[in-house]
Amino acid sequence: MKQEDLNSLLNDLSLTEKVGQLIQLSGEFFQSKDISFGPIQKLGIPDKLVDLSGSIMNVTGAAETQKLQKQQMAKQPHHIPVLFMADVIYGFKTIFPVPIGLGATWNPKLIKQAFMVAANEAAVSGNQVCFAPMVDVTHDPRWGRTLESPGEDPYLNSCFAKAIVEGLQEQLSSKKGQAACVKHYAAYGAVESGREYNLADMSISNLFQNYLPPYRAAVESGCKMVMASLNTLNGVPATANKWLLTDILKKQWGFNGVIISDYASVYELIKHGFAADNEDAAYKALNAGIDIDMKSPVYANGLQELVENGKLSINKIDDACMRILQLKNDMGLFENPFFGASKKEEAKYNLNPANRKLAREVADEAIVLLKNEQHVLPLSSTEKVALIGPYSNEKSLIGMWAVHGDPNDCITIRSALSTALGNNLSYAQGTDITRDKKMLAGLGFLDSAQIDQIVSDDEIEKQHHQAAIAVAKKADIVVLAVGENTFESGEAGSKTNLHLPQNQINLIKDIHNLGKKIVLVIISGRPLVLTDIVQDVDAIVESWFPGTEGGNAIADVLLGKVSPSGKLSMTFPITEGQEPLYYSQLSTGRPQKGSQHTGRFVSRYIDAPNEPLFPFGYGLGYADIQYRDVQLEHSSISKSDSLHLSVELVNDSPWEQKETVQVYFHDNVASIVQPVKRLVAFKKVTLPTQANKKVTFSIPATDFGFFDNHGQKILEEGSFQIFVGSNVNDVITKTFRIV
Ligand code: NOJ
Repeated sequence: MKQEDLNSLLNDLSLTEKVGQLIQLSGEFFQSKDISFGPIQKLGIPDKLVDLSGSIMNVTGAAETQKLQKQQMAKQPHHIPVLFMADVIYGFKTIFPVPIGLGATWNPKLIKQAFMVAANEAAVSGNQVCFAPMVDVTHDPRWGRTLESPGEDPYLNSCFAKAIVEGLQEQLSSKKGQAACVKHYAAYGAVESGREYNLADMSISNLFQNYLPPYRAAVESGCKMVMASLNTLNGVPATANKWLLTDILKKQWGFNGVIISDYASVYELIKHGFAADNEDAAYKALNAGIDIDMKSPVYANGLQELVENGKLSINKIDDACMRILQLKNDMGLFENPFFGASKKEEAKYNLNPANRKLAREVADEAIVLLKNEQHVLPLSSTEKVALIGPYSNEKSLIGMWAVHGDPNDCITIRSALSTALGNNLSYAQGTDITRDKKMLAGLGFLDSAQIDQIVSDDEIEKQHHQAAIAVAKKADIVVLAVGENTFESGEAGSKTNLHLPQNQINLIKDIHNLGKKIVLVIISGRPLVLTDIVQDVDAIVESWFPGTEGGNAIADVLLGKVSPSGKLSMTFPITEGQEPLYYSQLSTGRPQKGSQHTGRFVSRYIDAPNEPLFPFGYGLGYADIQYRDVQLEHSSISKSDSLHLSVELVNDSPWEQKETVQVYFHDNVASIVQPVKRLVAFKKVTLPTQANKKVTFSIPATDFGFFDNHGQKILEEGSFQIFVGSNVNDVITKTFRIV
């Protein structure tokens, strides 16, 4: 539709029709199958506004969406098509690893391809907007949504934000892909004590330096939508935060797309004690910049009256409405309201072999090898392998937020290994995933009968245990597949105990006591505390929730079809008491190492080290890559120059190895205290067997700047350290100056 036609459409709409565009409801309002995940309650939305609602969430399927589109367009006086939006967080039908695993690939190019596939699958099934990328920087694995984030680093998350937006949106003009909706703006990953829906409170410098960059990267990559977060930021709910939504996002960053609230968060302004009632909440959210009210009764019941009473200018409604119409028009919905939906394509494209192949490749790169004593991995084809543990034969490998995926499409570890190992593979379940009934009750949706189904009775558990010990005794090596229950991570999955479940720890210890070599395969949606078992096992393969092709990818690594190349994008702590533990902490005046004070009065714990169990950026391969000869082209650069540096990598192994070279820096003296290290660049390169490779970087001086407490970026002259290495701790250090 031409712009002038769009403008006259807006002029033609009644106030009620305009308000309708600003409302998003889920499938149950339209007698459709609804897979929304969130609190359910009667909203009290007038039928008229249900009919006029501008977008529908989490209804998918080509036939279903086409039917609904026709039905809704017929009900609307101006026949405006609805937008179908959905959570396609890391795959639609072909499920990729959870985002904390995507982060571990350090391979944004590959992840861009993954999101192209995810968006194309969703589009043929009738979906046009994707509630991703989620790029909340998070420092605290107690927060269940750690699963959904690429990790703890603003620069790394920014690279993924860009890649994901490009992957989702690149093919929009050919009716493929989806419009992206970056979330959760802002600083949701900083919720205090890792507790879900809690507050975030921080300095402006911290906000601009560490939390805002990934959202900004998404906006700069052309992201069409932004979702406000559920938390308060410095006391103001993000949903009604005019400074965040209008001053920074729209005015400073030039965002002119659509801003949507998170699920029910406009209504929650009342619960926060920030708004008195529906009308007040509607006013505050719209005035701050929220265009669409997701799944709350507030806009539906409050906006019309506000305008009619003269408390809210119609221009505000028009602005919000136009943003939504504009998006519909940009996507060509007025000409083709079904966008990419096609029953034929849906049957052909979703979960096709090429999509599965890509999911396997991504999962291969997401796996992080944390330990490999005496090169116990890869397994040799002549070894007798016992595959034991509750995840060995389990199809639930897709994690909590793959709501459109089906675990039945997953390849199990057992089936993948048995293809390769045949009679050399034996199997026993060993134990349940968890036997902790209290924790299962804490998940909040299981009744005691359901819990009893998950936890086997004691006699069966004993038999499982004995069978596992018998199988282990006959084997040369034991692969133990353990991990979290799917619902222990993800939204509303905050936890204070990050250890493996006790029944799994007992199994590990008992098998260790047999004197067997153990390869521990972990399925999890967050960094766990592995301190109590790390010495009992010979190898640790962190596989996250690896997705549809998870079993194949784990087998690829165990059998040496690929050398693992994943590196942690989040620190693994020694104990939960260290949290939030992240590598880029600010320098303290009393560092544990290098302070003028000795003994007690330095920054440390009396009962635990400061260091993590496994640091940021860490991950082993089968080849041991050596770093040498770091060179800076100039030891001093001007503010408009770039720092050129090179490093030589040596692979003297028989393995081809993908290696992520990481560059960090420290600003030695600054007007705001700076982190001990900050990631500023990285490159993932492939080293052929027995080869050397020179890797070069060119880093603009401005990247060494920082944000002050007014949100202004500044670059100060002075001396800096630069660190080049295979993880944040294993580095070669050089110094340079900015003059
Ligand atoms: C709530 C979650 O916070 C958000 O990430 C999600 O996109 C919406 N629900 C819609 O399902």
